[in-house]
Amino acid sequence: MSTVVLAYSGGLDTSVAIRWIKEQYNLDVITLTIDVGNERDLPAIAARAEQIGAVKAMVVDGRADFVRYFVWPALQAGAIYEGQYPLATALARPLIARLLVEVARAEGAGAVAHGCTGKGNDQVRFDVSVNTLAPELKIIAPVREWSMTRDNEIAYAHEHSIPIQVTNASPYSVDQNLWGRSVECGVLEDPWAEPPEEVYAWTSNPDVSSSSEPTYLEITFQHGTPVALNGEELDGVVLIETLNKLAGQYGIGRIDHIENRLVGIKSREVYEAPAAVVLHAAHSALESLTLGRDQARFKEMVAAEYARLIYNGQWYSALHQDLAAYVHSTQRFVSGTVRVKLSHGHCAIVGRRSEHSLYSHGLATYDSGDQFDHNAALGFIKLWGLPLRTQAQAQLLPSIGIEGDLLSLDTHIS
Ligand code: ARG
Repeated sequence: MSTVVLAYSGGLDTSVAIRWIKEQYNLDVITLTIDVGNERDLPAIAARAEQIGAVKAMVVDGRADFVRYFVWPALQAGAIYEGQYPLATALARPLIARLLVEVARAEGAGAVAHGCTGKGNDQVRFDVSVNTLAPELKIIAPVREWSMTRDNEIAYAHEHSIPIQVTNASPYSVDQNLWGRSVECGVLEDPWAEPPEEVYAWTSNPDVSSSSEPTYLEITFQHGTPVALNGEELDGVVLIETLNKLAGQYGIGRIDHIENRLVGIKSREVYEAPAAVVLHAAHSALESLTLGRDQARFKEMVAAEYARLIYNGQWYSALHQDLAAYVHSTQRFVSGTVRVKLSHGHCAIVGRRSEHSLYSHGLATYDSGDQFDHNAALGFIKLWGLPLRTQAQAQLLPSIGIEGDLLSLDTHIS
C-alpha cells in the first residue's frame, strides 16, 4: 500500500492532513476535491494541494449526480431529519464516499482519507459507506487521530510552509452544497443565543428587507421531480441554484435546530436551505392533491425513516433500497404545478393543479352542483361510531360524564 486518496476541501484541516499523512503513514497523497455546488475556486484548491505535496490533485464535478441520485430522491421521499433539517451535508457524504472508492480503485490506492472529527455524523457516513462499498480499503481520518488544536494546526502549517488563509478565519464550521449550508460552533454552541446575522450567507435578513413586493413562482413537477420554473424547463442544478438565490433574497430557508446526532450528542445547528425549503413545501402540496389519504399517511412514516437512514449514514443499505422502491412507486402520479408566493421570510403555497388530481369539486363544493350523497353520511356515521357506542355501553358509561373520568382527569391535572 503506497497511495491514499484524500477528500480535500482546501481548508485548514485537510491541507495539514496532506502533509501529516505523508509524515505519519509514509503514503503518497492523491487529493480528490468534489464539486457538489459549494462555490469554491476549484483550480486554486487543486494547485494548493500540489503545492503542499499531493502527488496528484483531482477535481470532479459531482453536481449533476448529486442532484439526480441524492437530492431528488430525498425530496421525493420528503426526507427532513427531525422535521427540520433537509439533510444537505448528510446527502453529499455517500456521493463523496463513492467517488473516493472509485478513484482509489482506479489509482490502485490502498486507503482513503477524510478530514472529519471524532464527534460528528460525517465520519460515520464516510466510514460506513466506504466499508460497505470497498471493505478492502483502509480509512485514515487524520483529524480524529491527531490531537492538535486549531492553533497547533496553524503552527504545524507554518512549520511546514503549508499555505493557509487564517486571516479570514471564522469561528464557525461551515459545510455547504447545492441543497443547503450547515453552520456550527462559535456562539451557536449556546442554545439560548440568537444566531448573529454573520452566520448567514445565502439568506437576507427577513426582518430588514421588508420593502419589496412578494414574488409568485410556478414550480412544475414530473413524477415528484421538479422540472420547470415558471414554465421554463430547467436542469436540476440550475433550478436549485435559481431557487436558492430567489428565496434567499426573501430570507426564506433559515433553520435553527437542536439536533440529535447519531453519536449521542445534542448539537445546535443553523442551516440555510432556501431551495430545499421551497421545494419540499411545493412537493408536499402536490402530493396532498395526488396521493390518497392512506398513501399520504403511510408515506409520512416512510419519510421519517428515510430521513433517519440518510442522517445515520445508511445510504448503501438494503433498507434504503426497499424504501426507495416504495417512494418511487408513490411518485407515479405526482406530476403537476404548484404556485408559491415568496414574501419576507415566508414561503406560502397558494395554488396547485395536476392532471392526476384526486380533488373533486363536485364532491367538495357547498354550492350548487354538489354531488356528495348527504344521506349516505347517516349510514356511514352509524357504522363508524358503532364500536364506540358498543364499548361505551359495555364498559365506560358509568364513568363518563360529570362525576366520572372527565372530572377526575381535571383533578389529576390540577
Ligand atoms: N449536523 C449536520 C449533519 O450532521 C451538519 C454537519 C455539518 N458539518 C460541518 N462540517 N460543519 O449533517
